[in-house]
Amino acid sequence: MSGRIGESEWIWHDGTLVPWADARIHLLSTAVQFGTSVFEGIRCYATPRGPAIFRLPEHLRRLLDSATIYRMRPAHTAAELTGACITVIRENGLDACYLRPMVLRGYGAAGLFAEASPIETWIAAWPWGTYLGAGALEEGIDACTSSWARAAPNTFPVAAKAAGHYNAAQLMKAQAVADGYSEAIALGPGGLVSEGSGQNLFLVRDGVLVTPFLDGTSLAGITRDAVLALARDRGIPVREQHVPRESLYIADELFFTGTASEITPIRSVDRIPLGEGRPGPITRTLQADYLAIATGEVEDRHGWLTHVGEPA
Ligand SMILES: Cc1ncc(COP(=O)(O)O)c(C=O)c1O
Repeated sequence: MSGRIGESEWIWHDGTLVPWADARIHLLSTAVQFGTSVFEGIRCYATPRGPAIFRLPEHLRRLLDSATIYRMRPAHTAAELTGACITVIRENGLDACYLRPMVLRGYGAAGLFAEASPIETWIAAWPWGTYLGAGALEEGIDACTSSWARAAPNTFPVAAKAAGHYNAAQLMKAQAVADGYSEAIALGPGGLVSEGSGQNLFLVRDGVLVTPFLDGTSLAGITRDAVLALARDRGIPVREQHVPRESLYIADELFFTGTASEITPIRSVDRIPLGEGRPGPITRTLQADYLAIATGEVEDRHGWLTHVGEPA
């Protein structure tokens, strides 16, 4: 598993580039004390036209939405952040990479009313390969259902991608790895399937692609949305519905979607092998369609790519 963060030279901080090693915030920043940092994970792919960022406007919109939900007035517009993402990739001389924009509450407030803590915006980028380890995209991974559940909708606002929400996700992931699995699938507070620790989930049964409703317990994934569009392009029937845990065990195919995980097939859940025990045909088709667009092998018919080397 690609456990350690990669490095590049520069990190963007509110309009200036700072050397990677100098990108620091104070220990007592509100974000460190209380988890108030909203963030994104965005992939940039190498294409024949140079590096291209996948669905940048959608990611920046979610970042700004996350900030708004947490009552953090962002200091930069989407247009400014677009320019900043492009600058970070260009100035670091990166090709394929992962971008991590963060809007966080810095140093100032002592307690929970954090208006005295200024809003800081940072954007880092570094080369990052397959999230779930070598072979994950080709062979699939083994997942478990977690004994940690996703929070109820009136506890954490899941439309926000906020650092604090990932405490539960870290517990799920750590437990899964300790028990010999690559990833965890979490149930929602009502006992129905919600999502992975950092991925949405799809299953295939009798040729129909099924994914849980966005019911206020899971993040509205941008890759999830892309997969729904790609399935419709192919004429694959799609259903968003409640997904009981046991339907995972009898699925013909199962896969995770996420920026880091891309489209990762799942070959077993709770040690029950799925289908043939290897990635099924619908999973492979959607994975190939996704990567073909992301890497510029086929026409970008949905307008998902922002080419870094070309004027915006
Ligand atoms: C909890 C959670 N669910 C789902 C996803 C997938 O979202 P996306 O496809 O936008 O990366 C992520 C990753 O950002 C996540 O952290």
